[in-house]
Amino acid sequence: MFRFFIASVAALAITVGIAHAESDLVKRGDYLVNGILACGNCHTPRGPNGDIVEKAFSGGGSWDEPPFKVSAANITQDKETGIGNWTDADIKKLMRTGETPNGVHTAMIMPTSFYHIMTEHDLAAVVAYLRTVTPINNKVPDPIYKMPQVENVLPGGEKPFTESMMSDSVTKGFYLATIAHCMACHTPMGPRGREFTTKLGAGGIEFRGPWGVSVSRNITQSKTKGIGEWTDAEIKRAITQGISRDGTRLKPPMGFHYYATIGPDDLDAVVAYLRTVPAQD
Ligand code: HEC
Ligand code: HEC
Repeated sequence: MFRFFIASVAALAITVGIAHAESDLVKRGDYLVNGILACGNCHTPRGPNGDIVEKAFSGGGSWDEPPFKVSAANITQDKETGIGNWTDADIKKLMRTGETPNGVHTAMIMPTSFYHIMTEHDLAAVVAYLRTVTPINNKVPDPIYKMPQVENVLPGGEKPFTESMMSDSVTKGFYLATIAHCMACHTPMGPRGREFTTKLGAGGIEFRGPWGVSVSRNITQSKTKGIGEWTDAEIKRAITQGISRDGTRLKPPMGFHYYATIGPDDLDAVVAYLRTVPAQD
């Protein structure tokens, strides 16, 4: 009897331990997906007043560009129109390589090139969180690919980082800014993809949407055209509140309403990394 009691206490402790670890994983995924990763910035439908939260992740914006005509997929747990039938391995493969379970490469607007760097733990956290997303039945139009879709990886972001690399603030900032795909929006496109080696962070990409037109800005250390003269506090305010140095409001798709939840240490790291981005005038 006593023995049985001990055994069941041990079993209970293990079960509670696992449940606890799982909820920590879901919490981490929630922090990432609804914060710095800003998945909903594309996957949640947008109304005149911003994201429609009741329809979170059920399929969002659409793009008609030279390489593709696509809508952001329904990534809720709906089995018919979402990713409820995908295995964890299917989701991880898509995130890391861009390849869907039917062997097609997803449109490169989905920033998979920026997730090669994601740590195993963060990738598991994202998947664990996605499993908790309420299923919503919503069929988005099928994608049209006008040319082969390729990965356009930021130099230094080719391989998964490890947790131990995060003790260095600049490395951690590079990691966070990469999974946030800051440089996808802030680096101009050349004939062979984004000009990461020559114009990293120089801005100049146009975005059209319900907000009108916005153009991504120069976030290099240039003192005249970039953020080289800005204080850390000014940079943080722009990222998390969408207020530029001169006090004007920034427009979407700059994801400041997602970035508002970025923790202070992570924000320090992102700024530490931005300070290393060479000036481009
Ligand atoms: C810049 C916009 C954008 C962001 C940010 C984005 N996605 Fe996507 N995602 C898309 C688009 C567009 C598609 C559909 C591409 C296609 O049909 O080829 C897609 C496809 C997917 C798919 C494949 C679904 C399917 O049915 O084929 C998954 C899973 C996914 N995204 C998850 C995520 C997660 C998780 C995040 C955040 C870590 C994220 N996405 C961030 C635009 C985005
Ligand atoms: C989906 C595209 C997109 C992503 C991702 C994005 N930005 Fe932006 N960002 C923009 C656009 C567009 C603007 C300009 C908005 C405007 O002019 O109203 C902007 C503005 C800014 C500004 C203000 C600069 C100024 O001169 O006022 C800063 C700083 C900035 N972004 C930093 C970042 C950082 C850091 C990240 C990653 C954590 C990031 N952005 C991710 C599109 C993006």
